[in-house]
Amino acid sequence: MKLHHYGFATKSIEKSLREFEKLGYKAVSEQIHDPVQGVNLLFINNGSDHLIELVSPVEEESPVTKILGKNGSSLYHICYEVAHLDNAIADLKSKRFIVVLPPTPAIAFQNRNISFLYNPSTGLIELLEK
Ligand code: NI
Repeated sequence: MKLHHYGFATKSIEKSLREFEKLGYKAVSEQIHDPVQGVNLLFINNGSDHLIELVSPVEEESPVTKILGKNGSSLYHICYEVAHLDNAIADLKSKRFIVVLPPTPAIAFQNRNISFLYNPSTGLIELLEK
């Protein structure tokens, strides 16, 4: 599984972008609204080999609202790219990961399918189908 991005929950994408810019990051996408997840998204990079996805809820019911309430602005998921989403989910389910979000098209990735899984010892994992 290849690392795709780290997900960072924030109340304000604009404020977080300003602060991450002090660490050398720049926006590498437009701000994207994902109505399925009820969030806005922005991808940033600092010239090295990783992306951070700034995620801000636009709806009270978004799971990201709960994360912000509990932890404030924080890293909250790691996303890996996988060749076959269903196979990867079946494999992780057999290794005691729980499916939090079944395969869902993600507007941020040209409607490629994503899924979220959780294990108490790794936290939240996102899988993105190639
Ligand atoms: Ni993500």
